[in-house]
Amino acid sequence: MNFPWSRLLKPVVFLICLIPFAYLLTGVFTENLGANPVEYLARSTGDWSLRFLLIVLAVTPLRRITGWRFLIKLRRMLGLFAFFYVTVHLLVYAVLDLTLDWSFLLEDILERPYITIGFTAWVLLIPLAVTSTNRMMRWLGKRWKTLHKLVYLIGLLGVIHYWWLIKKDLQEPIIYATILFVLLAMRVNKKYFNSLSVLASKLP
Ligand code: HEM
Repeated sequence: MNFPWSRLLKPVVFLICLIPFAYLLTGVFTENLGANPVEYLARSTGDWSLRFLLIVLAVTPLRRITGWRFLIKLRRMLGLFAFFYVTVHLLVYAVLDLTLDWSFLLEDILERPYITIGFTAWVLLIPLAVTSTNRMMRWLGKRWKTLHKLVYLIGLLGVIHYWWLIKKDLQEPIIYATILFVLLAMRVNKKYFNSLSVLASKLP
């Protein structure tokens, strides 16, 4: 299925992806982020990082089920937005929370398991962001696909990171973990979901 407004699709989705960031920036400048703005920023950018990772993982299964080929055109941009939000999340923590105290940051990365996992996920995202260009895709050939499968592991690390830091109410990490599990199951069991897409295409 091709939308007639396909030329507008990318810029429109780009602007939509910027809304959470614009909202947070506005909050910073209007001093409207509650009693603990740094915590608010860390949490909100963490949430958006995970959401974007799951959105990226949902692109291929959704395209298979719906047949909407235009979704593939958005995958790279959504992936880069995931990297953008995780990087902002890391910067909020390193700059605003730890005031760029590198020894504290290193200590946290080494000694607090949820930070270790979050940081590992961010490091693993770097090669994916760097190799997201067409040129890199051509240069890496088949290896590109293998490398980009890392995004599943990164999603898993993101969910573990969240699960680990929450002490009481696990409701949200459970929701994210369930979505991730379904997306991974779709990936593993392609045949089953391909037949779902055939069924969907026969719907009126
Ligand atoms: C793929 C990478 C990452 C994802 C998906 C992610 C996601 C999240 C999520 C969902 C939260 C909880 C938000 C909430 O309470 O609603 C969070 C919190 C947090 N993350 Fe991450 N994160 C990632 C990487 C990192 C990195 C690299 C660091 C720092 C080195 C970090 C440090 C923190 C901290 C300190 C909190 C607690 C904030 C607070 O409660 O004050 N995260 N993250």
